[in-house]
Amino acid sequence: MLASNEATKMLVTKISDGTVIDHVSAGKALSVLRLLGDPETKGATIALVMNVRSSKMGRKDILKVEGIELSTEQIQRLALIAPRASVNIVRSYKVAAKRSAVPPRTLRGVLSCTATTCVSVREKDSAPSIFFLSGRAPLRYRCKYCGRELDEKDISAQLA
Ligand code: CTP
Ligand code: ZN
Repeated sequence: MLASNEATKMLVTKISDGTVIDHVSAGKALSVLRLLGDPETKGATIALVMNVRSSKMGRKDILKVEGIELSTEQIQRLALIAPRASVNIVRSYKVAAKRSAVPPRTLRGVLSCTATTCVSVREKDSAPSIFFLSGRAPLRYRCKYCGRELDEKDISAQLA
């Protein structure tokens, strides 16, 4: 029997240049892809490895995006749905940098307020959605206009 990381390596080949997003909670790979703006629609080649065994997480998903290095903003946004993700920047087959997903302090136009009376809901054009980070573990964001807090469940549901 192969160790779980050996079995995973055999399932999907190494990439030459691009980004490997590892340690994504099992089941979240497609949400992560959507959060990154569906890079496959812009011509990127992507490998998804879903529900593989992991010693740290039980089960996990991995995304490999060939030819694209994620921006700092994209890596930050990852923290919203994959707080334990590690982002590996690959150049010439080697991991050139490892970054972890840190939630952004401010989110503009990403989340929607759940308070129906909030000005950002009633007057979207003059009051575009703005949220400030108000907790890291568990993750929380607070609406700039009305103070309503979104918890991890609300955030995942909006980004699913
Ligand atoms: N990887 C890849 N192509 C490469 C290099 C690495 O697809 N050319 C993938 C590996 O398969 C792994 C991830 O990028 O899923 C991170 O690689 P590496 O740092 O070598 O692995 P680990 O040491 O196991 O990573 P960690 O410590 O983050 O668990
Ligand atoms: Zn609000």
